[in-house]
Amino acid sequence: MLEARHVGSAELRIGDRVCHLPILEGNGGERVLDIRRLRADCGMTTLDYGYANTASCKSDITYLNGEEGVLLYRGYPIEELAEKSRFVEVAYLLVHGSLPTRKEHDRFSDLLNRHSLLHEDMTHFFYRYPEHAHPMAILSAMVVSLSTFYPELSGNDVDEELDITTTRLLSKMRTIAAFSYKKTAGEPFVYPRHDLSYCANFLNMMFSSPVSPYEIKPELVKALNVLLILHADHEQNCSTSAVRLVGSARVNLYAAVSSGICALWGPLHGGANQMVIEMLEGIARDGGDVKKCIERAKDRRDPFRLYGFGHRVYKTYDPRARIIKNTCHEVLQVLNKKDPLLDIARELEARALEDDFFIERRLYPNVDFYSGIIYRAMGFPTEMFTVFFALGRLPGWIAHWKESLEDPEFRIQRPRQVYTGPNLRHYVPLDKRS
Ligand code: ACO
Repeated sequence: MLEARHVGSAELRIGDRVCHLPILEGNGGERVLDIRRLRADCGMTTLDYGYANTASCKSDITYLNGEEGVLLYRGYPIEELAEKSRFVEVAYLLVHGSLPTRKEHDRFSDLLNRHSLLHEDMTHFFYRYPEHAHPMAILSAMVVSLSTFYPELSGNDVDEELDITTTRLLSKMRTIAAFSYKKTAGEPFVYPRHDLSYCANFLNMMFSSPVSPYEIKPELVKALNVLLILHADHEQNCSTSAVRLVGSARVNLYAAVSSGICALWGPLHGGANQMVIEMLEGIARDGGDVKKCIERAKDRRDPFRLYGFGHRVYKTYDPRARIIKNTCHEVLQVLNKKDPLLDIARELEARALEDDFFIERRLYPNVDFYSGIIYRAMGFPTEMFTVFFALGRLPGWIAHWKESLEDPEFRIQRPRQVYTGPNLRHYVPLDKRS
């Protein structure tokens, strides 16, 4: 891990106590006030809802500049990776820190193939879920269940075991994702094949059936690679922070990732991709009244938000959204499809971007705004969208889990609070309470 540079200190005066807080600078030039001694030296803690101004760790994995719309994985621009790389290679990059050599790549692909099958007993679990179970619930339960079938690290050869555990999860989660879809569709499971690449395998497991083989279109495999790459990491977002927080209790990787899946499911996070399509469908049903939707999003008394818009860190166009918007056109062209929701989405974006409410708050389309239109065109049901996001985000979660374990400054994550409840009071027996 590279060290953040010590570039000075700030003086904080509270009454007659003076604290000197070190100022650190990360590689992207972001400056942070190191408050780790604040409570000990000044008897105070900080309050920061949503951790909007709090760095929870140092990290080498992803650089994000939300003012300029820059996103780098291990130093590589997202645009280059999306254009030139494949998901498996990016997963390796995130987890191991560098792009694989040919030999490393082949070994990684071989491991992914070897670990792609689920223990056959696990396949029975799928049948016990109710008919309309959300695939994100199934995914999270199945991932934590992997820990009952596959041993935790024994500590003998940690590097080798970590390699196998992380590869196993990358490979099996794809199988679980496809099986959960097959279960909800009421179709037989399609097993992974060694002769197919990661993404082609996933498409085949999703869409082929014993009665009709699936024609794997290289353009769709490419689009899937791009989408998974774009979702692969995004530094300390909600689900990754969940993985780090749960992982900080030293639970196994499967349990930590399962918690990340649950966090991702939320409509303010990865679940927004499903919400976007439902919102666009609602507008279409309403006769295409985009203005009404914008007015609702602006109404402070209405909890409704424009899904797929806004971001905690990006205050400009999300670079992933830009790439996804282009991929969207390409996929619709390849499939020779027209989607009226795309026209609605475009109009919604254009109107929002010229509306003062969105301009003042610097709200732009995020990664979820256009992705659902691609998934729809490819044939994924709406409920699978966030599963797909989870599959893409997995290498990031693994990389962060691994990095936090290896961090010499590691501590269990345990924020403080400002207590606002009642003062001391004493128990009153039930028959004496009025
Ligand atoms: N629609 C309408 N208003 C919005 C939106 C939106 N999508 N996003 C933010 N705002 C408004 C807020 O109401 C707030 O207004 P105010 O200053 O008048 O109170 C202001 O913009 C700032 O918003 P916050 O909620 O403080 O921003 P925060 O950083 O906490 O939230 C979030 C970010 C959750 C992404 C938010 O923009 C949102 O809810 N977006 C819609 C859901 C979504 O698309 N989520 C996916 C994000 S990407 C991802 O996680 C993969």
